[in-house]
Amino acid sequence: MKALVLSGGSGTRLRPITHTSPKQLVPVANKPVLFYVLEDIAQAGITDVGIIVGETACEIQEAVGDGSKFGLQVTYLPQEKPLGLAHAVLIARDYLGDDDFVMYLGDNFVLGGIAGLVDEFRADRPDAQILLTRVPDPTAFGIAELGEDGRVVRLEEKPALPKSDMAVIGVYLFTPVVHETVRAIKPSWRGELEITHAIQRLIDSQCDVRSTVIHGYWKDTGNVMDMLEVNRSVLEDIEPCTDGRIDAESEVIGRVRIEAGARVSNSRIVGPAVIGADTVISGSYIGPYTSISESCHIDDSEIEFSIVLRDSCLEGVRRVRGSLIGRNVTVSPATRKPSSNRLVLGDHSEVQISS
Ligand code: G1P
Repeated sequence: MKALVLSGGSGTRLRPITHTSPKQLVPVANKPVLFYVLEDIAQAGITDVGIIVGETACEIQEAVGDGSKFGLQVTYLPQEKPLGLAHAVLIARDYLGDDDFVMYLGDNFVLGGIAGLVDEFRADRPDAQILLTRVPDPTAFGIAELGEDGRVVRLEEKPALPKSDMAVIGVYLFTPVVHETVRAIKPSWRGELEITHAIQRLIDSQCDVRSTVIHGYWKDTGNVMDMLEVNRSVLEDIEPCTDGRIDAESEVIGRVRIEAGARVSNSRIVGPAVIGADTVISGSYIGPYTSISESCHIDDSEIEFSIVLRDSCLEGVRRVRGSLIGRNVTVSPATRKPSSNRLVLGDHSEVQISS
């Protein structure tokens, strides 16, 4: 069995973060979402992985390399434009050969991994297996309509008037029969070859398409709150450890991971939280559900329930909450009178100030 991981696309829904970084590399608990995907695949006992890459190919290749750090053998498959998930299967035809495969979207996050699902698929070998989960915003997904016996009767891509709230999530298991249907479909209104259409064709031709409902799922719907929530659930299970240095004036409570080279002085950290490698925390409070990436400086500040990406700096700021802070960002108090907010924000930024 092989895996096909989709890591193209432009990530418009996570702007401004995705102006400078592919959406698949946005970190959750200091680890890119794509790495969780690759770890899930390795854990399911699959070693051959084809990664579909687009305009962010360089960044993805730099981060993943040849896959050996995940115990995988990675082959990069360039897609000239994001022409749809079924198009990705189409261009991966030679790579996939006649193997069964799991297609995993590199911006999807499945809490608990996919090993159980892959085992189930291997044992029963239906023509295809999809995963479903209830979502609050069905118009943003492929939506499944289920019959009385729980079987999928119809799939609709981003329906204006959804018939259910059961979304198709980004992990699909296929036998090679899907190659015939991806060749047969036509582009949708958004100009993409939709995998939902290819699966619908399988259903229409009486193929065995099974579905499993799962809980604990996240996708970049553009809602920063969603990102913070997935960060929160991952942090709840982290292994506490201290590879950095904590001075005697500091207090560290609960599940906290302090990575190598990090220094904490005169501060209070209340987990669950991670402090990235070489980050310096001084005279500050880091509250629950916070991920601070590597090489940040947090001085005389208070922050909780937030994500800070690498090389950023908070100085004399309190209190930051429910925030996603990008790379190389500086947040500091205004010094001149009268007190005012001075903002230099990238395109598509969103800021809420206390005033
Ligand atoms: C794609 C699929 C959609 C599925 C979703 C899951 O949507 O087309 O059916 O529900 O992934 O992440 P897209 O990411 O292209 O909007």
